[in-house]
Amino acid sequence: MGLVSGAAFAEFGHEVIIMDIDREKIEKLERGIVPIHEPGLERLLNKNTDRISYTTNMEEAVREAWVHFICVWTPPDLDGSADLSAVRAVARELGKQFAKLKVKTPIVVTKSTVPVGTGKMIQRMVRQSFKDECKIVSNPEFLRESQAVADMMRPDRIVIGSNDEEAAQTVADIYQGVKAPVVMTDLATAEMIKYAANAFLATKISFINEVANICELTGADVDKVAEGIGTDPRIGKAFLKAGMGYGGSCFPKDVRALHQFSNAEGYAFKLLKSVIEVNEQQRQMIVDKVNKHLKILNGKNILVLGLAFKAHTDDVRESGSIDIIGRLQSQGANISAYDPLALLNAKKVLNDLVIMVRDAHEGALGADAIIIATEWPEFKELEWAKIKTIMRKPLIIDGRNLLDPVAMRERGFVYEGVGR
Ligand code: UDX
Repeated sequence: MGLVSGAAFAEFGHEVIIMDIDREKIEKLERGIVPIHEPGLERLLNKNTDRISYTTNMEEAVREAWVHFICVWTPPDLDGSADLSAVRAVARELGKQFAKLKVKTPIVVTKSTVPVGTGKMIQRMVRQSFKDECKIVSNPEFLRESQAVADMMRPDRIVIGSNDEEAAQTVADIYQGVKAPVVMTDLATAEMIKYAANAFLATKISFINEVANICELTGADVDKVAEGIGTDPRIGKAFLKAGMGYGGSCFPKDVRALHQFSNAEGYAFKLLKSVIEVNEQQRQMIVDKVNKHLKILNGKNILVLGLAFKAHTDDVRESGSIDIIGRLQSQGANISAYDPLALLNAKKVLNDLVIMVRDAHEGALGADAIIIATEWPEFKELEWAKIKTIMRKPLIIDGRNLLDPVAMRERGFVYEGVGR
């Protein structure tokens, strides 16, 4: 998020300093190596090299800059709340540097997803060392992984929240030329918008997943139901793809955090509790489908296609696939797995018992079941007729409704999707 934002700000014509405490990352960037997989990012960084500099030194960054964007991760704590230690550390250090360098009215902007009230907390942290005026702005990001550059360059909206109009306008000016509605709010509202947006999208997914489950019981087809309701502009087509639930670095943590900080404020957000439960249930449901067909999993060979939390990314954070592999292994299943991009990252979080294969055909040899866990389009193009001949049992559990059920059954597979 920080890197994409920095590249975009440079493209908008600004001088940008990108700072990270991870020396290895900064050194790679200085050598022109982009440490994450994000389409279009490398091109954008290369195009703007004369406006971007990199550093691990906060003093250097603060000396040169006026507006400071905090783009650190806010991972979930054990109770689901957002862990703000990185945000606090940055705010404290900014305060120290502002004081040391006697900076004049700096602006600190949070892009990280942070609970309502964090802006004020940042103000307090900065104040510990810096007693002069420092303005705080919230400018949440809505970037999707694998589409982050496009989302940044052509956003649906720009949200800017501050209790200081001038500071808000300064941040709005950074986006000058970007064609998007700008929503100006106070600080707390902007912080809430980010959570409400992600929680609403996650709610849409859990809703359609529950519809899928009732479709299975009644013989209706969830994909058609989604099409039928999605054409109503009040509902909208997006985020109505039923499957094994949402994953990734944002939805699971943000839904839990909103639920948790609502509780902390004395409000039980009942709907979100269900959204979380349904998401958990969808993953178990895939395992239940395998159990239904194979009965005992001990010693059975299962190929999992897809390890990333969604297609077109190498990110496995909160990936449903990784979760399901653990559940299958706990019943004694032998797992082999394939992903076009995420094998390396998955290796870091999976145990050695999972056999990583170089292609789907290799993993299908002798398999009792194949689970489609990520909606990679290339899985549609596999040589399914050949795969059928090398599997021990021709069972496909399609956790993403990627394949055509009729065609798969015609090829002789026992095929189960979600809600179809
Ligand atoms: C999300 C938000 O879309 C983005 O605005 C925010 O800034 C960060 O979080 P991202 O995590 O990259 O982006 O993934 P997204 O494309 O939203 O998908 C999230 C998860 O939901 C994935 O696991 C995906 O497979 C799942 N999903 C998405 C569904 O199961 N059904 C859908 O219809 C859409």
